[in-house]
Amino acid sequence: MTNETNYDTVFGKMALEQGLCTDEELRTSLSELGERLKASPIMLKDLMVELGYVTESQAERLKDAIKGSKAAAHKIPGYKILGKLGAGAMAVVYKGRQLSLNRTVAIKVLPKRFSENSEYVERFYKEGQAAGKLNHPNIVQAIDVGEAGGYHYFVMEYVEGKTLADDLTAGKVFSEKEAVEIIIQVALALEHAHARGLIHRDVKPKNIMMSKSGGVKLADMGLARETTDMEAAKSEAGKAYGTPYYISPEQIRGKIDIDGRADIYGLGATFYHMVTGRVPFMAEDSSDVMRKHLREKLTPPDHINTSLSAGVSEVIEIMMAKRKEDRYKNVEELLMDLESLREGRPPFQAHKRFDVTMLQQLEKGETIEVRSEDTESEATLANYRTAIFILGALAGLFFLIILVLLLTRPG
Ligand SMILES: Nc1ncnc2c1ncn2[C@@H]1O[C@H](COP(=O)(O)OP(=O)(O)O)[C@@H](O)[C@H]1O
Ligand SMILES: [Mg+2]
Repeated sequence: MTNETNYDTVFGKMALEQGLCTDEELRTSLSELGERLKASPIMLKDLMVELGYVTESQAERLKDAIKGSKAAAHKIPGYKILGKLGAGAMAVVYKGRQLSLNRTVAIKVLPKRFSENSEYVERFYKEGQAAGKLNHPNIVQAIDVGEAGGYHYFVMEYVEGKTLADDLTAGKVFSEKEAVEIIIQVALALEHAHARGLIHRDVKPKNIMMSKSGGVKLADMGLARETTDMEAAKSEAGKAYGTPYYISPEQIRGKIDIDGRADIYGLGATFYHMVTGRVPFMAEDSSDVMRKHLREKLTPPDHINTSLSAGVSEVIEIMMAKRKEDRYKNVEELLMDLESLREGRPPFQAHKRFDVTMLQQLEKGETIEVRSEDTESEATLANYRTAIFILGALAGLFFLIILVLLLTRPG
């Protein structure tokens, strides 16, 4: 294999991984490339632009990323690069060996444009240091951050296995039970991080790793995000650049006071995808996906997969409420409901939220949509009412007896 074809292979693989083109488009391009090469030399990159599968600017950006990270990867002191593990919207991840401790690690190399933004670089180190202080079985351990040859890199624990995204793109729909188990593991990771002041900001299937030994680990914790990444997503017309299927409405609005509830939204969107087999909001391009996150009413998960319990559906709806005030107020509260689901009990925290929302709607004179499937919560509510009624009656009786005793007391 010559260098040229090798480069084409990497280019094609990365274009696909980044969601710039579909499987089908890549296949078409590769067979067309075979034909064209018989006549004259041409690169896959240029052919895909010509065919309209990627834009000129996407192709250039990808080319720079491949060139840059390759050069950088060979120059990180203390590490030996063993091969490429994958690529995301903003970086390439390599498998490597940490020479001092003779252990396998994963190294994420960021594109050069990051180093030009000093504010970003500062955040990169600050968050990297914070992540280094975290230690949790459900978090991919941060090991090192640094810079070499103008490239910033992030060294982390190597997880042998796959990501949740691999299962989802293969078309797997998780059973409710299996999904709840995985989501609980990620929630525990978030609880640990949030308690130490770290918000993930990019909870999604590609950042949830499933190790061969059966563990679930949240990756990219403490990796500072660049807002221009969002800008890139917004400005790319047509094809998505890191399609924002799991991003919270407040992050889309570019709010700076992002808190743990943004992670709850991302986890909710992931949960949604696992049990329904679909992303919550689907559209042709990323700006339409974002518009839907902001405005479109979520189709309840149990309307798509009717075998789902009303409980799991409610939990996901609360996690994905558009206004963060309507979500779980923190991961602890969410975990209470997830544990209820695991034990087959109705999610009490979600019910509480539904009741509050109902009251607010009543006050505003809005009509309330009563979930017909939700007989369990209605039963719980009825039980409360009965209990309060009985308590009230008992208290009344008690006072009556005292009164009678006082009045009839001799003398
Ligand atoms: N710690 C790790 N161990 C093993 N593989 C990893 C690790 N981190 C990332 N990867 C692989 O690299 C791919 C790209 O990761 P990343 O650049 O973080 O993409 P994204 O931005 O979409 O999360 C992942 O899909 C995964 O396959
Ligand atoms: Mg990642």
